[in-house]
Amino acid sequence: MKMGHEMKLLRFFSRIELQKVGFAIGTGCLLVSLIYVSVFKFDVVSLLNSTSSSALSASPSNHRVEDIVCSQQFDERSEDSILGKKLMCNFSSSRTDICEIEGDVRILGKNSSIFLVDSREIYDPCGDETWWIKPYPRKSDKEAMRNVGELTLRSLNSLEDAPRCTDRHHEPAIVFSVRGYTKNYFHAFTDVLVPLFETSYDFNREVRFLVTDFRPKWMNRFLPIFKNLSRYDVINLDKDDRVLCFPRAIVGLRRHADLSVDPSPSPKGYSMVDFVRFMRRVYSLKRDSVVGTKRPRLLIITREETRKFVNTKDIVHLATEMGYEVVVSEGQADLAQFSRVVNSCDVMMGVHGAGLTNIVFLPTNAVLIQIVPWGGLNWAARICFEEPSKEMKLKYLEYSISEEESTVIGQYMRNHSVFKDPGSIRKQGWNALKEVFLDKQDVNLDLRRFKPVLERALELVHTHSRE
Ligand SMILES: *[C@@H]1O[C@H](CO)[C@@H](O)[C@H](O)[C@H]1NC(C)=O
Ligand SMILES: *[C@@H]1O[C@H](CO)[C@@H](O)[C@H](O)[C@H]1NC(C)=O
Ligand SMILES: *[C@@H]1O[C@H](CO)[C@@H](O)[C@H](O)[C@H]1NC(C)=O
Ligand SMILES: *[C@@H]1O[C@H](CO)[C@@H](O)[C@H](O)[C@H]1NC(C)=O
Ligand SMILES: *[C@@H]1O[C@H](CO)[C@@H](O)[C@H](O)[C@H]1NC(C)=O
Repeated sequence: MKMGHEMKLLRFFSRIELQKVGFAIGTGCLLVSLIYVSVFKFDVVSLLNSTSSSALSASPSNHRVEDIVCSQQFDERSEDSILGKKLMCNFSSSRTDICEIEGDVRILGKNSSIFLVDSREIYDPCGDETWWIKPYPRKSDKEAMRNVGELTLRSLNSLEDAPRCTDRHHEPAIVFSVRGYTKNYFHAFTDVLVPLFETSYDFNREVRFLVTDFRPKWMNRFLPIFKNLSRYDVINLDKDDRVLCFPRAIVGLRRHADLSVDPSPSPKGYSMVDFVRFMRRVYSLKRDSVVGTKRPRLLIITREETRKFVNTKDIVHLATEMGYEVVVSEGQADLAQFSRVVNSCDVMMGVHGAGLTNIVFLPTNAVLIQIVPWGGLNWAARICFEEPSKEMKLKYLEYSISEEESTVIGQYMRNHSVFKDPGSIRKQGWNALKEVFLDKQDVNLDLRRFKPVLERALELVHTHSRE
């Protein structure tokens, strides 16, 4: 039995011209490494040269080799190459799993199943292989992934085993989940909208979105974004009992870093600058960049529940005296409206939190002032908003509050580790950190200490007005 299989492998390889050896990882092969690639190359060569079926079994790593063979990218230039069939899963990133499939792709939403059907007469070692994937790009976060449905990806050898197509589409499909942490506004952008942009923008709207863990209200809120990325109606894949057929599908989303687009995989090198331009187009925002402002507009993002400003009125008073026109808001559910408010401003300030995600609507060269609460949270501040704001070509200022400006001061003795060693709270885990520093802390800005930051923001805005 085993020998027969290997013989078929041999025939299989003799049919395709292996000019280019793509690499990828399949089941049980989580370590992507050049070692495996070179093992693979070596084995293919020996397979092709050998008439003996012992070639494969002689390899100590033949299991791995097969995995790689089965998810390898075939050379599209050679005409005989498996009718353009391709199944490539990349499970090597710590952020996201993604599979790209080309050929006869059949998707049965109700069963959470995706099939790649290969009906060639010749035996295909990739036949009847199965992969599992959760199409939400925060894979190492168990809590986020817990409520993300898993999809089964199967490569089928025979047409008979395949479900019959009920709907045929000619455009490619992108399959992704909108659950995870998406209730949170920051996560909506960093986990779905930006990754979807990165994965789909190159298709120039000729792509169809298939959504799992569908949330109608959520989808509706961001509908203009989906519509501008795809000319087709979004399909709710949950419980869909049709068999949807596509020539190509991407399962999962690319994700590079928070609110960040990796320009390298895209032929056109799209970046976060393109994402914010895209936002301006979607919401018809007027201002591309900060210019000629006599009285710069300052948007103070407030929060209702946690990490509130205790002295908002005083901040408004100070900023107005300094020459700002001040807008105070905690944000609005209606993005069409609120994006316009944000875009009309030159400076935005707020305590570290999801509201700062609205920087995606600011004009280029606008200033973000991130107020970092007590507790050594600068790392989070950097990852979530500092680095992204720079990628968006905004100016970034940061203000870390002192313990005197934090309301944790009334909650703990001054000799408590909350003050003496905030890092030790972080070491107790996310829940401890969240409770002490994110959920139970409000901010009472020391205006004398803070004023220079508002002055610096004015300078930055004026520099650009003159340019
Ligand atoms: C395989 O055969 C080709 C040509 O037939 C030869 O150039 C190559 O060196 C051989 N490789 C091995 C590993 O024997
Ligand atoms: C797989 O993903 C990793 C991490 O995102 C990336 O560096 C690598 O280039 C990808 N491999 C392929 C073959 O696309
Ligand atoms: C889908 O699921 C149903 C019931 O769970 C099963 O009977 C059917 O064979 C599945 N279809 C395919 C194509 O796997
Ligand atoms: C993008 O979305 C906006 C707002 O819904 C809409 O007016 C515009 O026509 C859309 N553009 C495209 C190309 O669909
Ligand atoms: C903190 O100070 C109080 C009284 O000043 C004392 O009772 C308590 O033991 C101290 N706690 C620590 C952790 O040092």
